[in-house]
Amino acid sequence: MKYDFKPFSMHQVYENYTQEDFEVWKILFERQMQQLPSVASKEYLEGIKRVNFSASKIPNYDETNALLSHYTGWRIHVVPGLIANRPFFELMQAKNFCASTWLRSRSQLAYLEEPDMFHDIFGHVPLLSNQSVCHFLEELARIALRFVEDEEAVEYIARLYWYTVEFGLIHEDGALKIYGAGILSSSGESVYCLENTSVKRLPYHIKMIFDTPYIKDRFQAQYFVIDSYAMLFDSIPEIEAELEQRMALKHKKTFNFHDSEIGYHYASI
Ligand SMILES: [Fe+2]
Repeated sequence: MKYDFKPFSMHQVYENYTQEDFEVWKILFERQMQQLPSVASKEYLEGIKRVNFSASKIPNYDETNALLSHYTGWRIHVVPGLIANRPFFELMQAKNFCASTWLRSRSQLAYLEEPDMFHDIFGHVPLLSNQSVCHFLEELARIALRFVEDEEAVEYIARLYWYTVEFGLIHEDGALKIYGAGILSSSGESVYCLENTSVKRLPYHIKMIFDTPYIKDRFQAQYFVIDSYAMLFDSIPEIEAELEQRMALKHKKTFNFHDSEIGYHYASI
């Protein structure tokens, strides 16, 4: 089921955040910032400073957008949660990052069924100050819109998004670091992804990612590792060519409907 979504119709009502919301944000922010400085990509950590996030304040989207505009021109766009693929990619191509405004409650600290603003904002927004990441997203959206009516193509794009923007790792200064928002906003997975000895950490490979399904509500069985953020943007021609090639094939693959919904996913915290 899809919401009747009217673009640009929703806003963050900052006054509605309660004392509990501020406390929850502080708990989550401090929990992550205790471990991320040694395991997160330095570009992400720099991004936290650029967008001025702190433990004491729930981000005000107008203020965040004003800061982001200096770096990449991207902005946070408030959505109700689930939106259809086409508006999701249209917004992305126009430099709008879809995010919710609600924050989990104290009782949800250990488990969350859908992404809240801690995932959407803390996890994603700092890297929206990075031009290579933003160019990659804009181009990925352009390609997605070419194939948006094709369930198979959208599934491939969703897998690529999943294994990069959501759960990507990066080689940085000779070490493995985290840049995927799904990991950065998860206290458990930000340790597991680097320390677990049985999980696979594979080189970034378009065809392999296209052929690797993902599971939403548990830690990943494999991660894909990039060498730089430019590598994402530089892979755009290969992504487009591979999609064109697969879409030209006669025998189409079919997927479960829920697998091809990229505008909505579960956050593993
Ligand atoms: Fe996300």
